[in-house]
Amino acid sequence: MSRGARQFDAVDLIRSKRDGEELTTPQIDWLVEAYTRGFVGDEQMAAMAMAIFLNGMTRREVKDLTMAMIASGETMDFGDLGKPTSDKHSTGGVGDKITLPLMPLVASFGVAVPQLSGRGLGHTGGTLDKLESIPGWRANLTPSEMIAQLRDVGGVICAAGSGLAPADGKLYALRDITGTVESIPLIASSIMSKKIAEGTGALVLDVKFGSGAFLKDIRQSRQLAETMVALGQDAGVATSALLTNMNVPLGLTIGNANEVRESVEVLAGGGPADVIELTVALAREMLTLAGQPDADVEAALADGRAMDTWRAAIRAQGGDPDAALPIATETHTVYADRDGILVHQDALPFGIAAWRLGAGRARKQDPVQHAAGVDLHAKPGDAIQAGQPLFTLSTDEPGRFERALESVDGAWRIGDPAEPVQTGGPLIAERIA
Ligand code: URA
Repeated sequence: MSRGARQFDAVDLIRSKRDGEELTTPQIDWLVEAYTRGFVGDEQMAAMAMAIFLNGMTRREVKDLTMAMIASGETMDFGDLGKPTSDKHSTGGVGDKITLPLMPLVASFGVAVPQLSGRGLGHTGGTLDKLESIPGWRANLTPSEMIAQLRDVGGVICAAGSGLAPADGKLYALRDITGTVESIPLIASSIMSKKIAEGTGALVLDVKFGSGAFLKDIRQSRQLAETMVALGQDAGVATSALLTNMNVPLGLTIGNANEVRESVEVLAGGGPADVIELTVALAREMLTLAGQPDADVEAALADGRAMDTWRAAIRAQGGDPDAALPIATETHTVYADRDGILVHQDALPFGIAAWRLGAGRARKQDPVQHAAGVDLHAKPGDAIQAGQPLFTLSTDEPGRFERALESVDGAWRIGDPAEPVQTGGPLIAERIA
């Protein structure tokens, strides 16, 4: 080991963190390097993750952990592209397909968008799973293919190679099975190590709160956003964050192919109001950080510029933007039993329903059904008439309907016109920069 294999003892460091002490920079550097190389075992790192989960970390420790994870692997450099780069990261939600219209929208202004994405796990969907419902589209690009696409098309959404922050890959898998995911220092260092290693010049974070989000409480989401913004800025990346409401599903679709369909509607100048609002707000943020605060984002959606970039990006990755998207063999629609107003539609149960229908995976290696998911026919605040369709479940395996229906039981309600609509506040709650 370059920094001294026996410089520290893992047990001493675990004891220090267990007892609420601060780890030094050399200790954190050593720990991450030794863990990446296998000199510190999974059981020791699991104990350390739990000690961090319980006792937290100072800002300085979080920064050191992030930098050590970046140093565990390769970094990318877009300096030779000759244009600014701007990226977005979402902490994940239900119906969150925003990356799909956002990438081509921002790229249509000449700002390169290197969007390294992942697959879904649990009730939050993965961008790559959604795009793989487009016939022929491939997620895996070599670094030179990625650079060529950024130069020629302006934007790319592809799989993050395992070479970026490998320490995080190992640690995240361990946290997943040891109950140590929901820790702000661990989440912030995990996300930011990958984003800083990716080499983007600007980064906008969409940090969700509410039922369908990873962290439910806005105070925790705010703390996560502030930590990540500080990490990005310290590393020289122009970084800002929007805190956004995930109490209600985003848009009218939850799944894979149906979310691609809705994204294409937005690129064609239509689509649901909340998807448009968030896409436009994040695009403005990304363009402002990249030096274009006055870009007319709405015009690029209305006049088809963003759609042209989408079609070019899909083609560049082997996909056919005109191909029919898969449709499920089985559907089950739920109808309204009374007149009134839709006053409640809870994101998390609908996300779980889509997952149980086959749109998501329980284990990393599981396949997903591209046509499975939920299509909503009404949003909170809509007037409803008895007998009208409220939502449709789709899957290729009808045996999945029962468990999906169980998850949405009690997750929506039609009330009287005088009742308040429960959305948990505006879609975009705060900006942090
Ligand atoms: N996403 C990540 O990449 N890391 C986390 O720790 C949580 C979400």
